[in-house]
Amino acid sequence: MKTRILMVCLGNICRSPLAEGILRSKLPNNLFEVDSAGTAHYHIGDPPDARSIKVASQKGIDISNLRGRQFRPVDFQKFDYIFAMDMANRADMLRLADKKEHASKVNLLLETLFPGENMEVPDPYYGTERDFEQVFELLDKATDALVLKLTNQINHGK
Ligand code: 4NP
Repeated sequence: MKTRILMVCLGNICRSPLAEGILRSKLPNNLFEVDSAGTAHYHIGDPPDARSIKVASQKGIDISNLRGRQFRPVDFQKFDYIFAMDMANRADMLRLADKKEHASKVNLLLETLFPGENMEVPDPYYGTERDFEQVFELLDKATDALVLKLTNQINHGK
């Protein structure tokens, strides 16, 4: 059975589609399913922000076909790991969790890289292309750390 991972931000057009595309490019798709969602409804059906599409394509990753969708409680059942870009996204999802088992699937994405520091992926929506490049670099490092952790867990039968 595949391990399912969900990346979550507010709008699902800047950070989480980038995180989805980067992580997917690093994992074998016969073993992992990667998706993304936003806690807000603002951008349902929208493609990623043009600046996210651009920064990804500069690194050889095509996210132009992704479309925004809103996080929903059934995602707690469908996914094994749910990663929030920031603490507001995490809090919004935890409010929708009615089981401990579901709440325990939610973590900050940067927790793997900076344990215990409550580090957030900054929202680049009102920023510049440079902010999107910095978000890419952060997501690239965070997903490297995540891939190591996930492949270790699989190798140890967890
Ligand atoms: P994201 O960025 O959460 O990284 O997709 C945002 C996108 C849209 C809005 C806010 C943040 N918005 O307010 O529409």
